[in-house]
Amino acid sequence: MDQRPNPDPGSKLPRTNLLLGGLTIGFVALAALFAKDPWGHVAPPQNIPLVDAKFLETTPWRRTYTDMVKAKEDMSDYDCYGCHEKNKPPPIRYDAKGKIVIPKEHSNIVMGHGSHDRNDLCYNCHNEQNLVTLQVRDGRELKFDNIPPLCGSCHGPTYRDWENGAHGRTSGNWDFSKGESTRLSCANCHNPHAPRIPTREPAPGPHPMRSAEKTSALTPTHH
Ligand code: HEC
Ligand code: HEC
Ligand code: HEC
Ligand code: HEC
Repeated sequence: MDQRPNPDPGSKLPRTNLLLGGLTIGFVALAALFAKDPWGHVAPPQNIPLVDAKFLETTPWRRTYTDMVKAKEDMSDYDCYGCHEKNKPPPIRYDAKGKIVIPKEHSNIVMGHGSHDRNDLCYNCHNEQNLVTLQVRDGRELKFDNIPPLCGSCHGPTYRDWENGAHGRTSGNWDFSKGESTRLSCANCHNPHAPRIPTREPAPGPHPMRSAEKTSALTPTHH
């Protein structure tokens, strides 16, 4: 009779070692495979381009009368009575289509306030009785260094947004009680004579956590 010997309790040990050895070899082999990356599933390191410096530019687009005075620039354009006579408001001339004619002495001015030239009349803003001031709808006379209330007299809602910091740009402290804060004048961004702001290219959005090739189809091309 062929009788198998009783299993020796000591013989369990070599079988366990064999198993552990096998597992170790298996894991080492896997680690080597992953390191070699034969399937190419590991995303290549992303090359995230820096945002073009033009998007970080904080200099206002326009310089106002106030900025020019501060920088001691040539103010001859504002010397209205160097050319005009007191108490003789310059007459406004129109062409056959009813469009305002700009004299060559003021050829630096291109009028285009609103679609259909709705606010191109000089004396809607300039004071014909005193050319060196601006006139507001309610009769107030303003100096050239105080433009926002002039604009606000016709653009009430935008003016109130601006006053509260929702339109235009506030620099410094947002909490006015914590210290100084400055607000750009309307004329730092809008040309009073032609206030529409030209369309600008938007800055690129945040970079997604995906490789460049996979997202390239979603990213708009920049010129
Ligand atoms: C370099 C000289 C000069 C200066 C400085 C000057 N003007 Fe004139 N301006 C003229 C001349 C010339 C005309 C056309 C002749 C006329 O109608 O009296 C004119 C015309 C005008 C007109 C009529 C425009 C039109 O379309 O018919 C207005 C309004 C005016 N000027 C306002 C001003 C104001 C406001 C200032 C100052 C902020 C000023 N000017 C500074 C020379 C000047
Ligand atoms: C919507 C209001 C508005 C209208 C309309 C307007 N102006 Fe002005 N103008 C201003 C303001 C505000 C300034 C000061 C600009 C600044 O600080 O940048 C100014 C500046 C000027 C200046 C001095 C600076 C320069 O660019 O030469 C002249 C001259 C002038 N205006 C003439 C005119 C004439 C002429 C007309 C009509 C054809 C006219 N303006 C229509 C608001 C207006
Ligand atoms: C006398 C009234 C009056 C004053 C003062 C005035 N505006 Fe206007 N503004 C208008 C009218 C009217 C329009 C045209 C609205 C339309 O076409 O629907 C306009 C249009 C505009 C637009 C839109 C332009 C566009 O083409 O989309 C801007 C921006 C603007 N104004 C800014 C200003 C600024 C800045 C000032 C002060 C320098 C100012 N306005 C002063 C009456 C005024
Ligand atoms: C920091 C720049 C900046 C300043 C300061 C600023 N604006 Fe604007 N404003 C803009 C821009 C940008 C737009 C949007 C233009 C567009 O949508 O094409 C705009 C739009 C407008 C419009 C068009 C209607 C609207 O609300 O969309 C009006 C009117 C206007 N501004 C008036 C003013 C007045 C009045 C002031 C001052 C009290 C002022 N802005 C100050 C940048 C400025």
